[in-house]
Amino acid sequence: MVPAPSADNHGVRPLLKWAGGKRQLLPVLRQHYPSSFERYVEPFLGSGAVFFDLHGSGALEGRAALLADANPDLIGCYLMVRDRVEAVLAELAELDEGHARGREAFYYEVRNERFNAQRRDHPDYTPELAAMFLYLNRTGFNGLFRLNRRGEFNVPVGRYVNPRICDPVHLRAASAALRTAGVTIELRPFAESLAGATVGDFVYCDPPYAPLTKTACFASYTAGGFNWFDQRALQQSVLGAMRRGAWVVLSNSCTPEIEALYGSSEVRAAGLEVQRVPARRSINSRAHLRGAVHEIIVTPLLHDRRLADIVPRMLRARSAPPVSGSARAATARRRA
Ligand SMILES: C[S@@+](CC[C@H](N)C(=O)[O-])C[C@H]1O[C@@H](n2cnc3c(N)ncnc32)[C@H](O)[C@@H]1O
Repeated sequence: MVPAPSADNHGVRPLLKWAGGKRQLLPVLRQHYPSSFERYVEPFLGSGAVFFDLHGSGALEGRAALLADANPDLIGCYLMVRDRVEAVLAELAELDEGHARGREAFYYEVRNERFNAQRRDHPDYTPELAAMFLYLNRTGFNGLFRLNRRGEFNVPVGRYVNPRICDPVHLRAASAALRTAGVTIELRPFAESLAGATVGDFVYCDPPYAPLTKTACFASYTAGGFNWFDQRALQQSVLGAMRRGAWVVLSNSCTPEIEALYGSSEVRAAGLEVQRVPARRSINSRAHLRGAVHEIIVTPLLHDRRLADIVPRMLRARSAPPVSGSARAATARRRA
């Protein structure tokens, strides 16, 4: 059994501000964590609110975790924080000083003349690039990460009086969490992360949300964006993982299209149900959107299924002839 995460989890808070970060949804999501699992898979990592929550509660101790995202800057930054945290800290301390002197003008100098120039010429991340990514995340508008058509980061400066740019204790703690034995970080599209998901895996999917209106779309975390074709492909990948016996939880926006996508009989047959949960209430200047205060989560139907009852993979391989994925999934459900 894994320790139950609780509201007073004093683990490491996420390193980044991230559009769609899930810290505020954690009390709801925790109700759907499985009571036991062998590996944690997060295909849309972003700021990793659920990863840091599980890590802080001790639920990942002795377990593997695959943390993946399709944003090369995000993954590059995490790899540098994991492997070269002291070098990142030294660079970040310099940027902190520069910001104290130059404020807005310094932000634009870093963004245009250093960050975008280095990303273009040397796409492999260095401690310097990771520090700039963190600096721009902490001082840019709402911590957004957005690229223009030329692939350049183009978020304007935010209005912060005294932004916390360099926090060595926090950065070292996040680095230690990312260095935990069994944790791997990959630049990978969701389909690849989900293709390997199987019985014993707990998968949390938090894709770019489907837009609530035609104009209210924010899906530009990556150069390619995330469109309706991707939403449908994700649903199919999720169903595949469920049929192989994984425990999948997914969040998305509450739109008629997404509710229909996950409300179908095919989804239910794969063992998932969809429910509305109260969303963060954001102040919207447009009156007709003020009532839109739900998001959806898709969770396994068998809430009391215990993955602890599933024979660990290695024991199973030793004691039984190979079985197909669907047979394994059926066995897992029977044991639950
Ligand atoms: C809503 S955010 C995830 C937020 C995260 N749960 C958190 O707590 O911060 C969605 C993430 O999906 C990533 N993403 C977009 N397209 C993707 C794809 N095709 N495959 C994998 N990740 C993708 C984005 O880079 C972004 O970090």
